[in-house]
Amino acid sequence: MTLETWLRRAVRMYGRRDAALGQIAATARDEALYLILRTLGLPLGSPASVLSRRLSAGECAALERVFKRRLVDRVPAAYIAGEAWLGGLRFHVDERVLIPRSYFVEILPTQVDPWLAGPHAVTRVADVCTGSGCLAVLLARHFKGARVDAIDLSPGALEVAAINVRRHRLGGRVRLVESDLLSGGPAGRYDVIVSNPPYEPSAHVDALPREFRREPRLALDGGPDGLVLVRRLVREAARRLKPSGILMIEVGGGRDAFEREFGRLEPHWFHTEDGSDCVCLIQAARLPRRHVRARS
Ligand SMILES: C[S@@+](CC[C@H](N)C(=O)[O-])C[C@H]1O[C@@H](n2cnc3c(N)ncnc32)[C@H](O)[C@@H]1O
Repeated sequence: MTLETWLRRAVRMYGRRDAALGQIAATARDEALYLILRTLGLPLGSPASVLSRRLSAGECAALERVFKRRLVDRVPAAYIAGEAWLGGLRFHVDERVLIPRSYFVEILPTQVDPWLAGPHAVTRVADVCTGSGCLAVLLARHFKGARVDAIDLSPGALEVAAINVRRHRLGGRVRLVESDLLSGGPAGRYDVIVSNPPYEPSAHVDALPREFRREPRLALDGGPDGLVLVRRLVREAARRLKPSGILMIEVGGGRDAFEREFGRLEPHWFHTEDGSDCVCLIQAARLPRRHVRARS
């Protein structure tokens, strides 16, 4: 059997088993090829000629085991491989964290700096709900003079984030903080607060395909309307941003509800390639400052 024969077989199995996609790849062929290359220890950038490679009996048996885990046990491909890619960077992932797929990866390189005095003016950044630490790493690489607080409520997620911060040699600038949003952790004000919080309405989480329900519920469940954490974060950010600071939040399908509730804060919605445009920016000057006591 060749690698291509196995690939075709795997794609048919994805169809028969009605596997859900969207965690690391949009098509069954892309995900299956990724898993085959990873299982056989071949480079992800292998040339097309790899498809004609003949497989040994041992390799076929290894692929059987991997695709059983993926398609019968419904383990996400990223957890099987123990890795995920975002912004061209490799991150360790396992069941303790959401598989990285945030829209911030497309926004950060080109759309954020115009809202700041300049990337070098940024000295303090918070990545609230950091999970695997993927956004904290991207932020530290973008704002090269900044210290980044990578905040999460889950000790397990912070253990994974620690692996990724070490792997990207950013231990000197990225600090891991266990805190309920911004309520605990270091004092002081930030230039930039970023968050990809849990934003699925609880009932949606219950109805997600099995491979998505393998991700931590704490990473997905945004309460009855999906906006419970978002609402709290807007309130808390008001007292934790410098006067010229910015808050950026990803809200998923909650954009219309967010607009109804927070439209008066004049959120700017960033453009995303798929048109969902579900990440917004709010300037500190527009955040409500009543009932707030500064931590300094
Ligand atoms: C959607 S995941 C985002 C992970 C990562 N930032 C990314 O983009 O891939 C949300 C994260 O928020 C964390 N979280 C949930 N509730 C929290 C809270 N009250 N305070 C801090 N972190 C929380 C979860 O543990 C999870 O790691």
